[in-house]
Amino acid sequence: MKLTTYVIIPLLPALSSAAVIRRQFGDGPQGGADSTQGDLAARPPPRFPFPIARFPVPSETVVLNETIYIQPGQVFDGHMKRYEFQEGSCNEQAEGTDADAVFNLLPGATIRNVVIGKHQAEGIHGLGDAWVENVWWEDVCEDALTSKGLNTQLRVIGGGARNATDKIFQDNSLGGKFSISGFYADSFGTFYQSCGNCLNQAKRNVTIQNVIAINGTRMGIINPNYSDEYRIKDSQVADVDRYVDKEIGNNVQTVPYTVGTGPDEKYALYNLTRDHITEFEGEVLNQYIPENPYEWLGEYWTEEADSTVRR
Ligand SMILES: *[C@@H]1O[C@H](CO)[C@@H](O)[C@H](O)[C@H]1NC(C)=O
Ligand SMILES: *[C@@H]1O[C@H](CO)[C@@H](O)[C@H](O)[C@H]1NC(C)=O
Ligand SMILES: *[C@@H]1O[C@H](CO)[C@@H](O)[C@H](O)[C@H]1NC(C)=O
Ligand SMILES: *[C@@H]1O[C@H](CO)[C@@H](O)[C@H](O)[C@H]1NC(C)=O
Ligand SMILES: *[C@@H]1O[C@H](CO)[C@@H](O)[C@H](O)[C@H]1NC(C)=O
Ligand SMILES: *[C@@H]1O[C@H](CO)[C@@H](O)[C@H](O)[C@H]1NC(C)=O
Repeated sequence: MKLTTYVIIPLLPALSSAAVIRRQFGDGPQGGADSTQGDLAARPPPRFPFPIARFPVPSETVVLNETIYIQPGQVFDGHMKRYEFQEGSCNEQAEGTDADAVFNLLPGATIRNVVIGKHQAEGIHGLGDAWVENVWWEDVCEDALTSKGLNTQLRVIGGGARNATDKIFQDNSLGGKFSISGFYADSFGTFYQSCGNCLNQAKRNVTIQNVIAINGTRMGIINPNYSDEYRIKDSQVADVDRYVDKEIGNNVQTVPYTVGTGPDEKYALYNLTRDHITEFEGEVLNQYIPENPYEWLGEYWTEEADSTVRR
């Protein structure tokens, strides 16, 4: 993909007076009836806009001494505060445990309106089905969000991650599912990875929709030999080398090997034309503007944030 010059248009239009209001729920009409996430339709529509190709600037930092567990059914609203550990917590060499994650999500948990600072080794671990809404990772260490457990389904709506030298979304679950929509990724190695050598391996399923991704190596790595399914649609990308790499995964902890790249009819299910995947040229298409936004949200996308905008 060719190098582009980014001109980012002001992205948080006056929240209350948006001229064009596009209605969509979660990951859009295509996400409609889904037997495995049937209860999702019952959730109220998000109260934050997405995607936004610009990072919020938190006004407060919470330095944690230990991980926060978000309980089943609990909605943790961080109110755009930055959460992190003490300085020097990022060690990309070390394999992170749940204790190294800033947040752990128990089944049925929701985390919302949170900024994860750079002082951490692991961002969030999803230990069961959970919702991750409007969460921003300022400097990803090992992974931003890791899925664990049996058939874990994570639903990511809005938010962003930058400087993920390695990966943003990592699925280590047994037979899990990821749905990522309205997300902004800036500078990453791999956007989504289905674990290539976990001890327990099964088919995983990911859908990436309405994301903006800039400067990365690849949008996905999947294991066709475990029948993984990968979809990407309605997205804007720039300076990303590849959409998906296919590797032969294993369950004996050896290094997986690459067998192909790009779409096919079985595992990597996308078509750039049909699925509206375009070059990001600075203008956010298909931005969702909530009807009833959080009133306080706008103040976190200040003028100061402009210095972090890519040009
Ligand atoms: C972390 O520990 C320090 C020192 O014991 C304490 O001052 C601080 O309030 C603790 N932070 C949190 C978020 O509990
Ligand atoms: C990006 O991550 C690398 C490696 O962790 C770190 O050295 C660097 O300071 C980070 N850069 C930014 C802009 O956050
Ligand atoms: C692109 O991403 C890589 C890390 O993945 C980073 O080292 C590099 O600085 C980024 N380039 C730009 C122009 O931001
Ligand atoms: C994978 O997820 C997509 C999107 O939710 C769904 O349409 C598809 O049926 C899923 N595949 C399997 C095998 O469950
Ligand atoms: C790929 O996965 C299958 C499970 O479908 C496994 O039986 C097989 O050994 C794996 N292939 C290789 C070459 O490791
Ligand atoms: C992709 O979709 C377009 C439009 O539907 C179609 O014309 C084209 O043949 C498709 N490409 C492949 C490789 O299937």
